Amino acid sequence: MYLGLDLGTSGVKALLIDDEQRIIASGNGSLEVTRPHSGWSEQDPEHWIRATEHAVQELRASHGKELAAVKGIGLSGQMHGATLLDANDQVLRPCMLWNDTRSHKEASTLDADPRFRALTGNIVFPGFTAPKVDWVRNNEPDIFSKTRHILLPKDYLRLWLTGEYVSEMSDAAGTSWLDVGKRAWSQELLAATELSLDHMPSLVEGTDVSGTLKSDIASRWGMKSNVVVAGGAGDNAASACGMGTVGEGHAFISLGTSGVLFAANNAYLPNPESAVHTFCHALPNTWHQMGVILSATDALNWYAGITSRNAAELTNELGPDLREPSGVTFLPYLSGERTPLNDSSIRGSFYGLEHASDRAVLTQAVLEGVAFAFCDCSRALAAAGTQLERVTAVGGGSRSTYWLKTIATALNIPVDVPADGDFGAAFGAARLGLIAAEQVNPREICVAPSTASTIEPETKLTAQFDAAYHRYHNLYPALKGVQS
Ligand code: XUL
Repeated sequence: MYLGLDLGTSGVKALLIDDEQRIIASGNGSLEVTRPHSGWSEQDPEHWIRATEHAVQELRASHGKELAAVKGIGLSGQMHGATLLDANDQVLRPCMLWNDTRSHKEASTLDADPRFRALTGNIVFPGFTAPKVDWVRNNEPDIFSKTRHILLPKDYLRLWLTGEYVSEMSDAAGTSWLDVGKRAWSQELLAATELSLDHMPSLVEGTDVSGTLKSDIASRWGMKSNVVVAGGAGDNAASACGMGTVGEGHAFISLGTSGVLFAANNAYLPNPESAVHTFCHALPNTWHQMGVILSATDALNWYAGITSRNAAELTNELGPDLREPSGVTFLPYLSGERTPLNDSSIRGSFYGLEHASDRAVLTQAVLEGVAFAFCDCSRALAAAGTQLERVTAVGGGSRSTYWLKTIATALNIPVDVPADGDFGAAFGAARLGLIAAEQVNPREICVAPSTASTIEPETKLTAQFDAAYHRYHNLYPALKGVQS
């Protein structure tokens, strides 16, 4: 048995697989995000531990015997968060999350230093770790001076699980401190932010062993004492391991809190100008490119909140057949946008409202707006040399067939739906736990699930979707003029 622990933004998932990689059971613990000011997004790391305990105890209640047979644990997590610890491993402030954009000034200052793009292969986005820690240096100097260790969210969980300060390449690539081509911390970039290697965890590959589960936690969870913890991966690379997206030509679209268009590469292919992220993959000698939008299901959940409905009720209200775009356009920039805009100050909007614009029309606009944001990502990936021919859908939002029809038609490519099962980040993490525990070839384990169905673009609506994308695309520069 192997356990995957995925520390997401809205909760922690613990997923158990057996030696044949069959999913046995899962448990969950929920998490909230606090937004004390516009552009801020924080969580208390203590809550990650509480949610992990909850998820594992839920699993234990129904599958205690299987949990006792776990040999390896893999970790996956929301990327980029800055968890700052003092010399006694006390958390110094709430973690600033991946969609926290308060450090936009620090990000543009670092980005203007040509060494950052040259060594990391990426724009320094405000959501990445280095500018956030620089914000702390500028605004909370007492906290900065007490900081001894900087850990990404899942690596803080690892410290709690194993006592080890370790990260791995896929998540480290999103800090702006990693030399992504060399897969090593850049002392030069650390020094540029007044930090050194002493602040950083050591690095392993996602498939390596990073430590062993502490005995007190093992006995509380009813596990053996020699359970290994794999390096694991940032949540997108972990999902890719779950989906078998580990080789050239493979791609997936993730409809989670954030939205991700992810393609695996056998080589390091940076193209920061396109605002595409180029990161290490969780497998050695493998990299990936991705376009990231900050609000995917987050946009639908926001709209569900203000209409007092849940997301499924809203999408069901649209019926099974794809509707022609109504003329109402939604820009999903609730926290600003990464690919391709790199704009932390832009905010979302509905445009084109009229008397006939009822709740369903606005739901449709939200789903289309997210799909059009993916069209922007697809163009950015093409500029970075990756032409998508088809994608596999993953993440909570992919349960809506209507949304997948919208995406297939907007992108004009087929969207594959995997056979029943949960092939997301927790599953990928469990696979990494298996690989580390058994020292097996990762490519034999990280294979693609079979396809249950394929959603083809609805070509009779292609022209209408193209026109709607055009409207969407033209709105950003127009609104930018109003907002700035
Ligand atoms: C990736 C990113 C998000 C988070 C969400 O760069 O910021 O996908 O990892 O969990």
